[in-house]
Amino acid sequence: MLNSFRLPARAARLLHLHSLAQLDAAIAMPGWADTPRLVLGGGSNLVLRGDFAGNVLKVELGGRRLVAETAAAWIVEAAAGEPWHDFVRWTLAQGWPGLENLALIPGTVGAAPIQNIGAYGVELAERFESLDAVNLDSGARRVFTRSECAFGYRDSVFKRAPGRWLVSAVRFRLPRPWQAVTGYADVARELAARGAALPDASGIADAVAAIRCRKLPDPARIGNAGSFFKNPVVEAAQCARLLAAHPALPHYAQPDGREKLAAGWLIEQAGWKGRDLGPVGCFERQALVLVNRGGATGADVVRIAAAIIADVEARFGVRLEPEPVFV
Ligand code: EPU
Repeated sequence: MLNSFRLPARAARLLHLHSLAQLDAAIAMPGWADTPRLVLGGGSNLVLRGDFAGNVLKVELGGRRLVAETAAAWIVEAAAGEPWHDFVRWTLAQGWPGLENLALIPGTVGAAPIQNIGAYGVELAERFESLDAVNLDSGARRVFTRSECAFGYRDSVFKRAPGRWLVSAVRFRLPRPWQAVTGYADVARELAARGAALPDASGIADAVAAIRCRKLPDPARIGNAGSFFKNPVVEAAQCARLLAAHPALPHYAQPDGREKLAAGWLIEQAGWKGRDLGPVGCFERQALVLVNRGGATGADVVRIAAAIIADVEARFGVRLEPEPVFV
């Protein structure tokens, strides 16, 4: 199974892409333009609702290198099929820090910009230089700058137009001098517990990995797609009303004056943490994650997600949005 949620689904055709020449050949196939397509990296942010009557492009492009080193930054590139966490560890081993807060995120380098992965105080967009993509309608190559990617919270131009682009390589800008990002409460606590007052980048990666192992299910053992819902962003007035009724509600001020709420908290308060509906459960250590207890289908995932969304909306008047891509 090529999806971390372990939902059963078959594709009409599966193409393993080891080179862009293979992609050019696929685009030249008769019927290509009229056949649905799905670009697949690690399959770790997907909900497959059933069989896919089209071409699945499994991106297995490999390679990573230092592109440039200046006084202000290291520019590092990786091909889209490289596993994300291995790439992070490799940059740290080379002495190019900057991606350590994003350690242990499942998936591939090519999928990382699609949903602008973020964790523990750093978003990919903050370390992004540019990427190479192939237009899947025409086969044309294009470089996207950061502003052209239109990154948002777990969002990008690519997530909004599924099947239009295949990301083939990504370049990262790792600023010099390196500055540790240790403000996230869980990270600060973990570092203090380790007696690491002045951690290096590898120390931060270790701390982040330890937190993730404690809170999040290992997709190699329990089917899941990471956070299943986005943290909702609401107007300041709505946040104030909610706080009056629920003083413990975690909330984070956004640059635009709105407030981001913790979806995990809302779901837990609605009584879903650790609860199952059929073969899908709301994870007992982090309510934002749905897990496949065994034998679940896409329909089972949709059923529990709808029930959670309805309960949270009834209780708090906040409508949660799923974070993974539905196919
Ligand atoms: N919380 C609860 N109950 C829960 C879970 C969380 O009350 O079951 C509360 C926590 O106590 C805390 C707040 O919610 O006050 C935030 O929790 P946490 O630090 O665990 O982070 P999160 O907001 O639940 C987000 C990302 C994660 C990322 C972490 C750390 C999203 C959708 N999720 O989760 O990303 O690892 O922050 O930065 O933004 C992912 O996208 O797949 C993912 C795992």
